Amino acid sequence: MDYHIKDINKAGEGRLRVEWASQGMTVLDAIRERFERDRPLQGMRISACLHITTETANLARALKGGGAEVALCASNPLSTQDDVAAYLVAEEEIPVFAIKGEDSQTYYEHIRRALECGPTVTMDDGADLVSSLHFIALGKWGELNPAVRSWAEGLSRVAREEMVRRIVGGTEETTTGVIRLRSMESSEVLQFPIIAVNDADSKHFFDNRYGTGQSTMDGIIRATNRLIAGSIFVVCGYGWCGKGLAMRARGMGAQVVVTEVDPLKALEAVMDGYQVMPISEATRVGDIFCTVSGDVKVIARDHFRQMKDGAIVANSGHFNVELDLEGLEEISVSKKKVREHVEEHVLEGGRRIYVLGEGRLINLASAEGHPSSVMDMSFSNQALVAEYLASHGHTLEKRVYRVPVEIDRAVAKMKLEAMGVRIDQLTEEQQSYLASWEKGT
Ligand code: NAI
Repeated sequence: MDYHIKDINKAGEGRLRVEWASQGMTVLDAIRERFERDRPLQGMRISACLHITTETANLARALKGGGAEVALCASNPLSTQDDVAAYLVAEEEIPVFAIKGEDSQTYYEHIRRALECGPTVTMDDGADLVSSLHFIALGKWGELNPAVRSWAEGLSRVAREEMVRRIVGGTEETTTGVIRLRSMESSEVLQFPIIAVNDADSKHFFDNRYGTGQSTMDGIIRATNRLIAGSIFVVCGYGWCGKGLAMRARGMGAQVVVTEVDPLKALEAVMDGYQVMPISEATRVGDIFCTVSGDVKVIARDHFRQMKDGAIVANSGHFNVELDLEGLEEISVSKKKVREHVEEHVLEGGRRIYVLGEGRLINLASAEGHPSSVMDMSFSNQALVAEYLASHGHTLEKRVYRVPVEIDRAVAKMKLEAMGVRIDQLTEEQQSYLASWEKGT
């Protein structure tokens, strides 16, 4: 079996952690058991570009249990858990191409090797795999990373076109990936249907909000061991992730400042009780900054100049482009690593800025990502959507679709049942009342 990981001897540690995560993934576990009986994914080849974590390992087991051949590569150079990669290779016989801390060249070589497995279904987290596949199929060589390009240029045109033709469909896990894929759809270049798992309510209401909220605080604290209470904590972006992060920072005693560009979200933040101000003002008061916007240069070069001595800066959005790290380099007179995941930049005049985890999603760079019980819902959606693609993929157009509402609700229902929470049912009278427009007071 082809694979490229750091150290196969870490498999035992990985297994223990994957089993621990599995205890929080009761819905996915039930899906895996059904998949093992019914084999709905038989004949499917899934190349998945996801964070290689304990939760992803449980998803991969469920997909394989359903009959799919699965290959995994990382969706971020810093998010791989090497022991989990070892476990998947050694004990589940799932090819993994991912090493924590890999450089950009290796990151794309790993994407290439996942593509070489010949997927009929793609799973992406940020759309790097799907966009690479499209650059190959469309011959957009200038956009393609050299590590993929050198291989793809050797393929015949027919072989390149065949790569996308055989794909029944793909799934996308995160907001940033969905934005990229919608842009591909509107530019009329999308070559196969995509189901936006991120947009399922049973995903982003919980994963983006509670998962990112908790794990981002965890990442910042593990990296710095600083006290959150009494600090001024700046959250850039008040979407699903930002709401969760602001809530958790406040819960730990920080004064939370929110920056936004959307008037509705900004108003929501004001009414939720946070201070809202432009980033150019927030940079003068903040002690800890975290971007979660999916946007570029949210903290730009001149913003770093305004920060207080000792300011801590992190990102939990999908790409590290949210921080203008090149701009920061330009205005820094020196730079050194002062702790694991903490880099000190000294500006002219001596002020120090601390960047965490190279600006990459801090919850995965210095912590372990989302807790498994929240990924249970996200990855149950992924598994059920893979099953849906097996039966309905051929009926779909080259568009970005929402997760079918029956799947979305089924995941929420199964999660409630797993948590032992019961809810009411509509009576016949209530159903008829809610369905009628004639009945008033
Ligand atoms: P969202 O679309 O719900 O929220 C993003 C917010 O940022 C919007 O309200 C938008 O108006 C705001 N924004 C955009 N540009 C801004 C700017 N220049 N300054 C201030 N605010 C700005 O998106 P969501 O779901 O909250 O995701 C945010 C990012 O986090 C995405 O990149 C997503 O892929 C990523 N993500 C990361 C996770 C992690 O594990 N760290 C988990 C889930 C999502």
